[in-house]
Amino acid sequence: MAIRRRGIEHIHPESELIPFKFISPTYGVYKENLKEWANENFVSKRFPKKGYISEEEKAKIKLFFERRKNEFPEGSSFLIPLLSDLKENFGVIYIEYMEEISKLSEFSPAFILGVATFYTMLEGFDGKAEIYVCNSLPCHLKGSEEILKKLREKAEGKEVEVREWVCLGRCEFAPVVHIPYTEKSFGEVKEEDLERIIQTALEVCPWRKNKK
Ligand code: FES
Repeated sequence: MAIRRRGIEHIHPESELIPFKFISPTYGVYKENLKEWANENFVSKRFPKKGYISEEEKAKIKLFFERRKNEFPEGSSFLIPLLSDLKENFGVIYIEYMEEISKLSEFSPAFILGVATFYTMLEGFDGKAEIYVCNSLPCHLKGSEEILKKLREKAEGKEVEVREWVCLGRCEFAPVVHIPYTEKSFGEVKEEDLERIIQTALEVCPWRKNKK
């Protein structure tokens, strides 16, 4: 059984054709992402409606839009960097933000949502800080599965979302953990590092800092 999401064909996560816990990064994503995407509530959870948009938010979106449109004037090429700005600044890209971009550009909110849902790093988790745990082959062989499990246990009840990720390009330091939208990466991670990683994520997360 196959599902088609984001233009790529994947084996269905529940399929018996995949007896392994780990799927090669060749597939581009992991089973848990596939399950998430197969969930019909995916969009409303990761790109929810806020119900309103403040003047301050509108002003910021306009500022980011003008900057990115100036930088990338061709077609829709400004959209990914702009959505990335919104994620970095607000933590969640609400539907209302996409409607605001739509008013400023020639693209419909549906088109913008289509772009946003293609990139997992743009998904929001209620404004929680995020931690990426690489689980591609070199990190997997160095115990990233256990790191992922332990990190999730320790993050339970905290304002942190631990996400399974693909190669972060620092395989020589496997297993690798990264705090997105920051310069912070941790190599050769061990169980005793996990509390410090969670604490760092809470402190350096850009959208949490913006709220203070
Ligand atoms: S496989 Fe983990 S950083 Fe490359």
